[in-house]
Amino acid sequence: MGTNGINKLPVLKSEFLIDSAITYLNFGSFGACPKQVFENYIKWQYELEKEPVQFITRNGINYLQESKDALSQYLNCSAEDLIFTPNPSHAVNLVAKNLELKPDDEILTTNLEYGACDKTWQFYCNKSGAKYIRQKIELPLQSKQKFIDDFFKGFSSKTKLVFISHITSATGLVFPVEEICAIAKQRGVMTFVDGAHAPGQVAIDLKKLPADFYTGACHKWMLAPKGCSFLYVKREFQKMLDPLIVSWGYDGTEPSSSTFQQFHQFNGTRDFSAYLTLPAAIDFMQRNNWKEYSKICRELVLSNAQRFCDLLGSTPICPISEEFLAQLYSIRITTSNPEKLQRCLYETYHIEIPLIQINNEVYIRFSIQVFNSQKELDRLYDALSDIIKTTELIEIKGN
Ligand SMILES: Cc1ncc(COP(=O)(O)O)c(C=O)c1O
Repeated sequence: MGTNGINKLPVLKSEFLIDSAITYLNFGSFGACPKQVFENYIKWQYELEKEPVQFITRNGINYLQESKDALSQYLNCSAEDLIFTPNPSHAVNLVAKNLELKPDDEILTTNLEYGACDKTWQFYCNKSGAKYIRQKIELPLQSKQKFIDDFFKGFSSKTKLVFISHITSATGLVFPVEEICAIAKQRGVMTFVDGAHAPGQVAIDLKKLPADFYTGACHKWMLAPKGCSFLYVKREFQKMLDPLIVSWGYDGTEPSSSTFQQFHQFNGTRDFSAYLTLPAAIDFMQRNNWKEYSKICRELVLSNAQRFCDLLGSTPICPISEEFLAQLYSIRITTSNPEKLQRCLYETYHIEIPLIQINNEVYIRFSIQVFNSQKELDRLYDALSDIIKTTELIEIKGN
């Protein structure tokens, strides 16, 4: 694609609502909705308020099915195996609560998971006496095989479930989830992939991926408005899951013979318009040649990675290749005050970028979405150079 492709990127900026005065390099945290998708969201909300009864009890149910059908095609799975959730946290809680952990059970995960998910698992493990094993993954990553070997050092006869990010939050790394799930399955344990950052950033094929549970956020890289996510559950485990909120979908018998869809779909009155935007979001991506644009974004990540590591005196946390990277890139940074540094980047340089702490390290993470450009990364580079020269906020190792 080369430079020509990269120059094409900012063309789509006008399609988004993002404030053009801000260099927005944090798409990863909460996504950002294109205008057309947001208008579709408001259209549903208008329809809801015009005739709430018809919408909530009749038409909306059909629209939900259409949206779920579109999502199931996008993920290559059956719509029967998907439920909408407001966010991945909801999905993780749903599975963790229903596992009915025992004191001898272990949940195997990495030490690079999203902090809120760690807390959920820790909560249910503490309550039951089970153990949450945050297996250390050595950084920098060297190869998939080394990753897999490191990860399964935490495996034992007590492992009940493997929980692993598809793409990590703080470190932005793409993990080898296909291989990890396949090995876990061979060893007879359940697998749960946290794909909060995956849909819209990497291809997902749930027929191929041997995951028993998979959650993804549609309100990040899939461009939906906030409050739109999903949980995929393999057929054989659907009966195991009681909803977090029991409502009209319960048929009143024990054991319940409500279907998975009935039991989980209606959890009390709420505005489910965000769920209905998926056909519009998928259509937006298809019409705008998303695959090609994502490729350009990934090239932008790869071509800038080493340069930023050099500036910050930091070693890359993985080989700079598509093996472990997609549209996020994280660099370890030495700073005495990450909050102040993040505020300084925003207030002085108008750059929105997160500084994230995990395992006593601080990472600065840039996200590249179709509205970002090389110019914006250069602006970040200049801002960081300036901060290094004029403040003591960033420490360069060896200085
Ligand atoms: C890897 C990962 N998992 C789970 C979540 C939870 O997402 P939410 O807060 O939308 O539930 C996030 C949020 O950024 C995440 O990055």
